[in-house]
Amino acid sequence: MSQRTLVLLKPDTVRRGLIGEVIGRIERKAGWTISALELRSLDQETLESHYGEHKGKPFYEPLVAFMSSGPVVALVVEGERVIEGMRQLAGPTDPIAAAPGSIRGDFGTIVRENLLHASDSEESAARELKIFFPGLA
Ligand code: CMP
Repeated sequence: MSQRTLVLLKPDTVRRGLIGEVIGRIERKAGWTISALELRSLDQETLESHYGEHKGKPFYEPLVAFMSSGPVVALVVEGERVIEGMRQLAGPTDPIAAAPGSIRGDFGTIVRENLLHASDSEESAARELKIFFPGLA
């Protein structure tokens, strides 16, 4: 089943020079295509709508500060079971719990600075793609 998902390479990935490394892993998955890609700084309004479900949690304010600390790379990735597949490629939220071989498992140590975001369901993907790429057909 071909799907579309939103991926954000977080400011730590950009600062550490890991954009190419992460995008390379996505590109090497058979049949997946990057159909949009943009380097951009996120304003408060975008972050509030993207992370609305986490508002009020103890990690929310530091998360928003981190996500505004530098540019991110926003990507639309399309292909076979890409929503589940991107989550698998990323590894669990906590990079220390993530297996080596996953992006977070190979490059991360800090829960907040966990390199990338990938939509967690079809509903989230539809909602998040509208926020970041409103012009998408
Ligand atoms: P992500 O799953 O992309 O979206 C929510 C983000 O909040 C998550 O990645 C982490 O960056 C951050 N996050 C989630 N849980 C915690 C936590 N316990 N402490 C700090 N940051 C967190």
